[in-house]
Amino acid sequence: MVKVLEHYHLGENNYKIIFDVPKLVKKSEPGQFVVLRVSENGERIPMSIGDMDAKTGALTVVYQILGKTTALLATVKPGEHIMDCVGPMGNPSHVDKKGKYMVIGGGIGIAPIHPVAKKARENGNEVFGIIGSRTQNLLFFEEEMRRACDHLYVCTDDGSYGEKGFVTTVLQRLINEGQKPDFILAIGPVPMMKAVCNTSRPYAIPTWVSVNPIMIDATGMCGACRVSVGGVTKFGCVDGPDFDGHLVDFDQLTSRLKMYFPQERQSMEKFEREHQPCYIGLKESPKQTA
Ligand code: FES
Repeated sequence: MVKVLEHYHLGENNYKIIFDVPKLVKKSEPGQFVVLRVSENGERIPMSIGDMDAKTGALTVVYQILGKTTALLATVKPGEHIMDCVGPMGNPSHVDKKGKYMVIGGGIGIAPIHPVAKKARENGNEVFGIIGSRTQNLLFFEEEMRRACDHLYVCTDDGSYGEKGFVTTVLQRLINEGQKPDFILAIGPVPMMKAVCNTSRPYAIPTWVSVNPIMIDATGMCGACRVSVGGVTKFGCVDGPDFDGHLVDFDQLTSRLKMYFPQERQSMEKFEREHQPCYIGLKESPKQTA
C-alpha cells in the first residue's frame, strides 16, 4: 500500500498527487515513469513523474481525469492509501551537456519536463523552457519551471495568459531570433509533439519526444505499447518512453491511442452512475508549489 501525502485540484480536470515512496524516489531519474494501481482489482496506469524529493521520499504525479481509473484516483484523500506505485519504469531522458537545451511542455506534459529541466541545468546546460496550454486554467508549474530554467516562455492557445499561440509559435520565434536550441525534448499531446518535430526538422535540431502509448504490463511482455520509430517497432515501456521525434510515426500512435475509446467511455459512464465520485472536494493547489 502506498500513502498519499497530498492531493490537489489544479484546475479543470487536472490534479496533483504526492506519494510517500522513498525507495522508489531514490532510484528514479527524470524521464522515467511509474505504474499505479488504485485498488486491488484495478487496472495498472502509467504516470509520468512530475517531481521527486530525495530528502523526503515524496513523488509528485500530475494527472488528468480521462477515464474510470483516473476518476477513482481523484477520490483518494490525503492520508489514505492506493494499492501500489511501481517503478521507476522506462529509460531516463537524455540530460547530458548539449549547450542550449530546450524543454517544451504542453498541457499535462508540463509536469514531466519539470524534473528534466532541473537535471539538464544541473548538468551545465543553458535551459530554455516553453510551456503552453489551451487556456490559463490549465496552466500549472509556472513558478517551478521558472526556477528550473534559465529562460521560460509561457503561452496559451486563446491568449488568456502569456503569449497567444502554440508552443511552436514561440519555438519558431526563438529560432528566427537566433536562439536555435542544440537539443529539444517535447512532452505533451501527440499533435503538439508532432508539430514541434515538424518545426524543428528543417533546422536539423535533434528533437526527442516522450510517447504515451496504451500500456498494460509496462515490462515489455504484452506488446500493447508498440510505437513505430524509423520503421522499426519499439515498445514504449522498455525502449522509451523517449524517442527521436523525427522518426516517430505519430499518425500510427494517434490511431492506436483511440483503439479503446468506446470501451473507456462505457466504463467511465458506469463508474459515474454507480459511485457518484466526490473528487470535487479536493483542495485547490496552493499556487506555485511542487
Ligand atoms: Fe506491455 Fe509495453 S506495456 S510491452
